[in-house]
Amino acid sequence: MSHGHLPLGQGAGRAAVLTGLGSFVPPRVVTNEELSRTLDTTDEWIRTRTGITRRHWADPGTATGDLAVAAGERALKSAGSADVDLVVLATTTPDHPCPATAPDVASRLGLGNVAAYDIAAVCSGFVYALASAAGAIATGTAERVLVIGAETYSTILDPDDRTTSVIFGDGAGAVVLRAGDPTEQGALLGYDLGSDGSLKDLIIVPGGGSRQRTTQADEPGARPADTYFTMQGKQVFRHAVTRMAASSRAMLDRSGWAPETVDWFVGHQANVRILHAVADQLGMARDRTVVNLDRVGNTSAASIPLALADAVSGGLITPGDRVLMSAFGGGVTWGSTALVWPDIAVQ
Ligand code: UT7
Repeated sequence: MSHGHLPLGQGAGRAAVLTGLGSFVPPRVVTNEELSRTLDTTDEWIRTRTGITRRHWADPGTATGDLAVAAGERALKSAGSADVDLVVLATTTPDHPCPATAPDVASRLGLGNVAAYDIAAVCSGFVYALASAAGAIATGTAERVLVIGAETYSTILDPDDRTTSVIFGDGAGAVVLRAGDPTEQGALLGYDLGSDGSLKDLIIVPGGGSRQRTTQADEPGARPADTYFTMQGKQVFRHAVTRMAASSRAMLDRSGWAPETVDWFVGHQANVRILHAVADQLGMARDRTVVNLDRVGNTSAASIPLALADAVSGGLITPGDRVLMSAFGGGVTWGSTALVWPDIAVQ
């Protein structure tokens, strides 16, 4: 098994310290009952197989960038300052194939001419974005970074596909990272990242890129590109458990934490059965697992910051708690990081 190891965080001179957190979900709630009116599914199947009871979907006209701006505003408010010099946005559903969404978000937030780019690592995107932002801080490229995970999966779901439409939701979560000392409360303690591109077909939007272009009407044999999201759920489930457990273990080794000393496991919110299986494999109590997928579904790159915001505002995660984060997603990709929770006000 190969894991990418970035020599950041613990031991390095400058660490990225979490100093602000905010989240936003679009107002429209879509219940399991609502979906069962148009799809061959039931509330009972969705609840027992995934743990999801409802999710939020953006109204037509609302884009990922709109959710990112709302969450970003809240994170900057939580940090007490809109002074950042880099915006990193993790998303699978950018506003356009070109350009990236981050520059527009930075501009709409009034952040001036800061560096801004998107990260595409599907459900692992937020952890990849944290590692990327921390790298910019470690090298002195940035002092303060706004890291956002934002998605509007409702725009890429096939409304006739019951295996994906019941799972995904829209939303955004954001954090502010600042340069600090690795020993400070809130310092990210390192990263375990990895990928296996031989499994790319497990989670894929086949069309709309350079491999399968959007239809050009005059091409012989032209057919509409398949721009819907597809997933081989059962296989993804299996790989998600194995990879998140192994990556979490690598991160625990790196931070020197025994599994039973972790206060909260904040895993990618795909399926409550995945979260419990990972906790079991790590030897952690299941009730140490943060779960908010019941209310928001799988929000991909937004999932971990939304879960963090929910757990902190709900009083579960408190300052001084040991928090382990781990994600798995399309690519396939996976990643983990950890921190001791800082004393910050969540928006
Ligand atoms: O975000 C990136 C990471 N994503 C994930 O981690 C998702 C991982 N996968 C999963 O969470 C699960 O595999 C699913 C929730 C997607 C599916 O659950 P499952 O327990 O693996 O079900 P399955 O795919 O094995 O399907 C079992 C049955 C099938 O029927 P048959 O073949 O037994 O007759 C499906 O056709 O359930 C059927 N089914 C449904 N029935 C009612 C599939 N989707 C639905 C549905 N409603 N929505």
